[in-house]
Amino acid sequence: MFEKFTSWKKDKVPNVPKENESMSIPHHVAIIMDGNGRWAKQKGLPRVAGHREGMKVVNKIVKKANDIGVKVLTLYAFSTENWKRPKPEVEFLMKLPELYLDKELPKLVEQNVKVQLMGRRENLPEHTLRAVDTAIEQTKQNTGLILNFALNYGSRAEIIDAVQSIAKDVEAGVISHESIDESVIASYLMTKELPDPDLLIRTSGEMRLSNFMLWQLAYSEFCFTDVLWPDFSEKHFMEAIHMYQQRARRYGGV
Ligand code: IPE
Ligand code: IPE
Ligand code: MG
Repeated sequence: MFEKFTSWKKDKVPNVPKENESMSIPHHVAIIMDGNGRWAKQKGLPRVAGHREGMKVVNKIVKKANDIGVKVLTLYAFSTENWKRPKPEVEFLMKLPELYLDKELPKLVEQNVKVQLMGRRENLPEHTLRAVDTAIEQTKQNTGLILNFALNYGSRAEIIDAVQSIAKDVEAGVISHESIDESVIASYLMTKELPDPDLLIRTSGEMRLSNFMLWQLAYSEFCFTDVLWPDFSEKHFMEAIHMYQQRARRYGGV
């Protein structure tokens, strides 16, 4: 049962507490779902087979996160840099939201999940936006887990957009330059209505942010695992939650 624990970087995973223990469930969990391509390669399959398999994992983790009382789950699905990939792969990735939502939207509605989009809408194909917008519309009254899809998201692009909007508002006299503080900057980001992530998980052994939520992750706890995203399970997710629960967050204090 514990064999996979060595796959987590640095931390020892503590004995697993009971799931209904109400000890600090992270409010916001962000996941960099990485390793689909390598998973497929290991199996001699095309990269898109890894993406398809990865999509199935999304389901399980959404359900688990909702069940244990996570309030926001942000999933990095496509970065502003992922356009560099071969066209057929990009096209497949742009079809994934439809494939996922066509099948899962009724369940998300039933599970009281609220779908949101974080990313630049420009450049996203119309069919991708249509699927996401339908999900947003149909779940907008829901009060359970917020499922925040980072699609065509890049943190630097987000910060550039925020700085431009702030500059415009200063110029127009809406705000003064002296009033710009952390909360003002946060209010111009795509996450303006969300708390910062408490926990960041990245799969596949990479230990970098790849342009993900640079501002928002300032004081988040990080968990890195070698497990490739298509192999990631509820069990791994709970291991990360338990590691999070063992961390001492100090925010620069003592
Ligand atoms: C993550 O898996 C999915 C996306 C980035 C869209 P990758 O496709 O990056 O898989 P690897 O990193 O090449 O194994
Ligand atoms: C980050 O993974 C983006 C997503 C998971 C969507 P990448 O696979 O694109 O990151 P790099 O290129 O390894 O940094
Ligand atoms: Mg990758």
